[in-house]
Amino acid sequence: MAPWGDAKLFCILFITCYYCCMVTFAEIPMDCCLSVANKTIDKSKVTDYRQQIKGQGCLIDAMIFVTRVKRKLCVPSDEPWVHELVKHVYFRKKFCKKHNYRPSRCNELNHE
Ligand SMILES: *[C@@H]1O[C@H](CO)[C@@H](O)[C@H](O)[C@H]1NC(C)=O
Repeated sequence: MAPWGDAKLFCILFITCYYCCMVTFAEIPMDCCLSVANKTIDKSKVTDYRQQIKGQGCLIDAMIFVTRVKRKLCVPSDEPWVHELVKHVYFRKKFCKKHNYRPSRCNELNHE
């Protein structure tokens, strides 16, 4: 095979791959939960939460809890324990913002 044949083939493969990856990432953002686990989380470990809504770029509904070590946990958004935990984190964030993150239990929170 001529050297050009190889280069062209490589180029086509590369472009195809690149295009596929772009399309995949455009359809499903990388931080989407693909499944949820109904496994309770210790509330002292959670620093933040975010709701994922089906149809807004993601395939399923989910609640995402962010832990101190920045891990993201995907849990069902319709479980009572999840609502309790969201409330807890919401009020703690509000409390911490009001107190300029000075209390020790606010150390782990983002200052955004
Ligand atoms: C999810 O977990 C909670 C707490 O452990 C439990 O009460 C509930 O029944 C579970 N739900 C399902 C659908 O398994």
